Amino acid sequence: MRSHYCGQLHADMVGAEVALCGWVHRRRDHGGVIFIDLRDREGLAQVVYDPDRAAPFAVAETLRNEYVVRVTGRVRPRPDGTLNPNLPTGAVEVLGHTLEVLNPAQTPPFQLDDENVNDDIRLRYRYVDLRREAMQDNIKLRSRVTRSLRAYLDDKGFLDIETPVLTRATPEGARDYLVPSRTQRGAFFALPQSPQLFKQLLMMSGLERYYQIVRCFRDEDLRADRQPEFTQLDMELSFVTEDDITALTEDMIRTLFKQVKGIELADPFPRLSYREAMQRYGSDRPDLRNPLELVEVGDLMQQVEFKVFSGPANQANGRVAALRLPGGTALTRKAIDDYTAYVGKYGAKGLAYIKVNDSEQGHAGLQSPILKFLPEATVQAVLQRVQAQSGDLIFFGADKARIVNDSLAALRVKLGEDLGLLQGDWAPLWVVDFPLFEYNEPERRWDSLHHPFTAPQQTPGDTGLHDSLARAYDLVLNGMELGGGSIRIHDSALQLQVLELLGIDEQQARDKFGFLLDALSYGCPPHGGIAMGLDRIVMIMAGARGIRDVIAFPKTQTASCLLTAAPAPAAPAQLRELGLRLAGAS
Ligand code: AMO
Ligand code: AMP
Repeated sequence: MRSHYCGQLHADMVGAEVALCGWVHRRRDHGGVIFIDLRDREGLAQVVYDPDRAAPFAVAETLRNEYVVRVTGRVRPRPDGTLNPNLPTGAVEVLGHTLEVLNPAQTPPFQLDDENVNDDIRLRYRYVDLRREAMQDNIKLRSRVTRSLRAYLDDKGFLDIETPVLTRATPEGARDYLVPSRTQRGAFFALPQSPQLFKQLLMMSGLERYYQIVRCFRDEDLRADRQPEFTQLDMELSFVTEDDITALTEDMIRTLFKQVKGIELADPFPRLSYREAMQRYGSDRPDLRNPLELVEVGDLMQQVEFKVFSGPANQANGRVAALRLPGGTALTRKAIDDYTAYVGKYGAKGLAYIKVNDSEQGHAGLQSPILKFLPEATVQAVLQRVQAQSGDLIFFGADKARIVNDSLAALRVKLGEDLGLLQGDWAPLWVVDFPLFEYNEPERRWDSLHHPFTAPQQTPGDTGLHDSLARAYDLVLNGMELGGGSIRIHDSALQLQVLELLGIDEQQARDKFGFLLDALSYGCPPHGGIAMGLDRIVMIMAGARGIRDVIAFPKTQTASCLLTAAPAPAAPAQLRELGLRLAGAS
């Protein structure tokens, strides 16, 4: 039907006969001549209809936005003064000879160039939204990203292997999506939160190097970088160490950024232990473009009378930390109040601060609501430790370590954004040496920080396994967790021991993971792997606001699809067939 894409027209084609197909982006009537901006996947072309050709001109008069048409005509230069340097095809136009309406269209629910369309309307009419250039660019970028990743892994001898979607629960820390079985009443499949167990089984099957671009399902609270179904680039390798996996992964990501965006990322990526990341940034996914750091001051506060500080300073799980903001004396009272309210969302009960108006003047050069509570020597020791200079503002957080970390980490990010502090464009890093477990206070039990199949750094048989570090690693880019993985447990006794620590006794372990425990005992190679969030990679490369903008048909905040109106009630007959009855229904 077409000889060229609209976006392919250029000056050397003058005189050529072309056939174009696409959507009417705009129609303009100019003193007896009709101009059509015709749009397809590759761009826009201007087509001109002249009243001399009465038949096509009459059709052109009927065209409205988003009609689908086929045009034939001859390429000619645009007249002097009408060239459009902003358009790749702006030097030429097509003098239309024929015009065929392939399909008329209703008035679109929004104009494609309207920047302020409500998100719900965009999702309801996603097929119109996706016609916009920015969205088409994101979808094309995503395709180039998967092509580059596949080529890289194919080249390194990885096999692309599919794993089941109807399966058993895979514990990754979120709620499962369940699918009732018709053939076995009362039994349910779970959609995989990740292919974790299958990829390990593939290593036990002797396949050595696996990858898959795979959909994962997690029923969890949604955020800009989280969807209930999302895509992982999932990998697993046999006979490898952590260093083999991180080296391969970072080379793959460097190659991807270079090939697709021409960006050179650091080589090698820096590494930070979990402990150091928490101490310096209060977060296990710090944005290293942000120069602000947390500084420990708890040891200086143990003796002070100010209970807000001395309390946490003397508690095992407490923390008192300072955050120095260069130039922060310029912050108004109102701005500080706003930041205090902001950290309140993370549980902080206040946000103490000291303004260093003049560091030469000792106490007299300071301004702060907490000076009266602290000995002068303590204040001087703090200022020295954070290397305070005139013009700085020092913020303080004091509470349980978790609250101080969460609130000061969030404050650090917010100050970075508000005050434009970020330096450089790309800051990848590995975070390593995670604890294997974390204690879940409210539920009074241990949880895996990653998942229960992660190998401990301690050798089997050691006591105090719950204090062990994990052979795990996370890849972070610009403050976002792009991926994570680990070396796995390949010994069934150790696997049982870890499950037991998580409160899963042998009987339960056999019920839930018997197939894995069996497989571990029939010849399991040492193995490990990683999964990268594909949506997040594309989002960060596209500079998009959220992963929704790089997924063709995403879900809303409440995990529904506005386009198809899913989820939807099931028909009573279907429920009967599945042996299900809704609670409250008769
Ligand atoms: P993890 O749970 O860390 O590891 O997931 C790997 C990566 O997937 C991305 N991700 C998400 N992206 C969008 N929406 C979500 N709801 C979402 N949840 C996770 C993140 C994350 O880093 N089986 C292990 C990997 C392994 O050990 O090999 C796993 O799934 O970018
Ligand atoms: P207060 O004595 O409660 O009025 O607090 C004095 C100062 O300490 C105020 O600036 C509060 O914002 C701050 N503050 C109170 N609790 C905390 C806390 N847990 N961490 C940091 N600063 C706090």
